[in-house]
Amino acid sequence: MTLLPALTWPLPKAPHTAADVWSASYPDFVAMINQTNVMPGAHTTISTWALHARIDRDSSVLDVACTTGFTSRELARLTGCTATGFDLNQDSVALARYNHHTLDPALHLTYVQADGTTYQPGRTFSHIAVGAALGFFPDPPAMATRLLGFLNNGGYLLAAPFWAEDPLPEHAAAVRRDVFGITSPMETREQALALFAGLDVLHQNDHQLNPELDDAIEHYCASTIDRACAQADIRDPAVRNAMIDRLRQVKQATNTLRRHQQYTVLVLRHDARTYPNRYVELF
Ligand SMILES: C[S@@+](CC[C@H](N)C(=O)[O-])C[C@H]1O[C@@H](n2cnc3c(N)ncnc32)[C@H](O)[C@@H]1O
Repeated sequence: MTLLPALTWPLPKAPHTAADVWSASYPDFVAMINQTNVMPGAHTTISTWALHARIDRDSSVLDVACTTGFTSRELARLTGCTATGFDLNQDSVALARYNHHTLDPALHLTYVQADGTTYQPGRTFSHIAVGAALGFFPDPPAMATRLLGFLNNGGYLLAAPFWAEDPLPEHAAAVRRDVFGITSPMETREQALALFAGLDVLHQNDHQLNPELDDAIEHYCASTIDRACAQADIRDPAVRNAMIDRLRQVKQATNTLRRHQQYTVLVLRHDARTYPNRYVELF
């Protein structure tokens, strides 16, 4: 196996105290710990998208709100596609580039810092992966329409939206708003799928979520924080412990929210001859 040279940690400021860890915004904390931030279903969703959307070496993928680059990196690893990711958070974009070069610099990946509401990629793509990210934009229907403008005719939109049939209880709604910064209303399944009306549904599968057990959360937190401390050369145990405590709190918040949510993995085709109409029965 070829050993790659160690890369320089890309963030200008490292946390020096526990207070630095706790005062970071949620997106900055994700970058600080180089969290492998994923869409619902992680590798299983990537694999489903790759197969059902026929992604291959000739494909060009846009990774919307890419955070630290999981979607584009793993699709490129699985299929050899070329991908561009963008995110509002500058530190996450820096980490996406770092993770690309750490995993395999030969993958065809580009990352840019951009606001999705104004971003102009200057080209179109064969695939757009939006995961569950529409909910992070102030106007999800407007963002869904905007993204279709970046898709080739016959191209595929890859989504995995969360939804909840019943209104979230106040404590779960507070977690969604305060921990994850999502201010758009929690959609029902019908509302989540309506964002993609007029696209051909090539694949659709509903998934239930099982809360993670404490041991699994501890394993995940220690793995993630010890990797970040090694990469960023953080040696202060007080900083490490604060990072673990905050990540544990995030995962417990996730568990609270997921008790009330499900998600649907979607592969949707854009056919400019028929969109936005639908001529095909469901059954
Ligand atoms: C949970 S992550 C998205 C996860 C994942 N990519 C997915 O497929 O669901 C949310 C990301 O949205 C980004 N974001 C929020 N508002 C944005 C905007 N206006 N433009 C671009 N990215 C934005 C945040 O910086 C954050 O990294």
